[in-house]
Amino acid sequence: MDCGLRKVSSHCSISEIDDYDLSKLLEKPKINIERQRSFDERSLSELSIGLARGLDNYEPAYSFGGRSGLNTPASSARNSFEPHPMVADAWEALRRSLVFYRGQPVGTIAAYDHASEEVLNYDQVFVRDFVPSALAFLMNGEPDIVKNFLLRTLQLQGWEKRIDRFKLGEGAMPASFKVLHDPVRKTDTLVADFGESAIGRVAPVDSGFWWIILLRAYTKSTGDLTLAETPECQKGMRLILNLCLSEGFDTFPTLLCADGCSMIDRRMGVYGYPIEIQALFFMALRCALALMKHDAEGKEFVERIVKRLHALSYHMRSYFWLDFQQLNDIYRYKTEEYSHTAVNKFNVMPDSIPEWVFEFMPTRGGFFVGNVSPARMDFRWFALGNCIAILSSLATPEQAVAIMDLIEERWEELVGEMPLKICYPAIESHEWQIVTGCDPKNTRWSYHNGGSWPVLLWLLTAACIKTGRPQIARRAIDLAESRLLKDGWPEYYDGKIGRYVGKQARKYQTWSIAGYLVAKMMLEDPSHLGMIALEEDKQMKPVIKRSSSWTC
Ligand code: GLC
Repeated sequence: MDCGLRKVSSHCSISEIDDYDLSKLLEKPKINIERQRSFDERSLSELSIGLARGLDNYEPAYSFGGRSGLNTPASSARNSFEPHPMVADAWEALRRSLVFYRGQPVGTIAAYDHASEEVLNYDQVFVRDFVPSALAFLMNGEPDIVKNFLLRTLQLQGWEKRIDRFKLGEGAMPASFKVLHDPVRKTDTLVADFGESAIGRVAPVDSGFWWIILLRAYTKSTGDLTLAETPECQKGMRLILNLCLSEGFDTFPTLLCADGCSMIDRRMGVYGYPIEIQALFFMALRCALALMKHDAEGKEFVERIVKRLHALSYHMRSYFWLDFQQLNDIYRYKTEEYSHTAVNKFNVMPDSIPEWVFEFMPTRGGFFVGNVSPARMDFRWFALGNCIAILSSLATPEQAVAIMDLIEERWEELVGEMPLKICYPAIESHEWQIVTGCDPKNTRWSYHNGGSWPVLLWLLTAACIKTGRPQIARRAIDLAESRLLKDGWPEYYDGKIGRYVGKQARKYQTWSIAGYLVAKMMLEDPSHLGMIALEEDKQMKPVIKRSSSWTC
């Protein structure tokens, strides 16, 4: 692994490349002066000035109070109720995970687990893992680290990336990076992994999407538009989107991916059109639309984004959506239908509906299924994709309510004793052999195969607030508080109800810590939701009933 890293660093380490003027950008953000004013004074609409290009006119209806001190964690600065003792511990642990590059904080390592013999790549800053850390810092009025992270990863995007003799797409963002400190020469060098060192050489398709989503969160939270509007950030967004918007042989607007392309970064049968990626793709497109300048280069992208958003939301809302009625329709599907009049467009075989779905599906509630492609529907429920669908308004308001209903109705299965199952249900026996390739880390109800991941608490909380159901989040947070600190902030839990600390789970997993803090801060001050949620776009066409949709 080391040689792989060194090989890359030998031709593209940042210390050898000049910092293409990023030093200027890395100066203190102007927003520092702005931040002297209290949050109350600064209306949210003021914060979104310039961002409000059509889709991003987000006005949370739930703004209570504001932050009272910039140096104290917001959660402990409240006087309305006693902060949970875990909050202080969590902040301390989060700060311990900070990674510095040339004296500046640029991210947080994945896990700070001294007890674990095998470090693997948990000592790196993962792009996806940093998102909850970034949100915690933003919510606490500390945007500088987020800005540094955004700019450093942007620099990494500019590297020439190769796996063996194959050159990767220009816009690819790394899965992770680390800083090598040379104590003798007193130099810091960045080393990134775009999948060329990762186990299974998986492509981090989600990294670029998270980067755009985080850029908007930073902009929304600080009101500092100057960063997103720099030519560097504008180009970074265009490069990411260029990878996803290019024309090919596709017959669907969804994005075709290999297995292991997101948080679930090993073979788990999510290849094809996984919901996790489609929801992040949708959200990143909407964020980019809000941030993209309408200049000569930006304009063309804006048009492509708008077209794709329309097609994507239509496709997802119609074909990925499953509720009792829809399940019953699929159960009665005819197959082998030819031509545009087909109702069963993807030729799904009713016999392929797994037994568990019939039991699992409540009369009230629904969700976006894991995957849809020709004759293949993955009926599994995935937490991240469904929560992001709510936050990005990929889900219609009715669908968002139905997803929350399902979580409530199937609490035991999806939450159990530790929020939240990464997917449901687990696959076992022969199916596990075929789907995972006999992966011993992904045995049933463990890790990516139905394990429970505390990091997902922040996404659940955000979805609860957006749908006006904070009491569900409160219940989940109470569960997390009864175990997380005591267990040493594990990466994941195992078992059908998430009762056991995961077999190979890291302790002091940073995103478990940051996810908890973000959930707490959002629940205490729901106006924070604005940085990670998007209101419904009224212009987006409503879903037309499947049977009559062939005309559009
Ligand atoms: C594991 C997880 C992945 C995470 C990484 C670092 O590989 O599957 O989602 O980003 O660890 O925590």
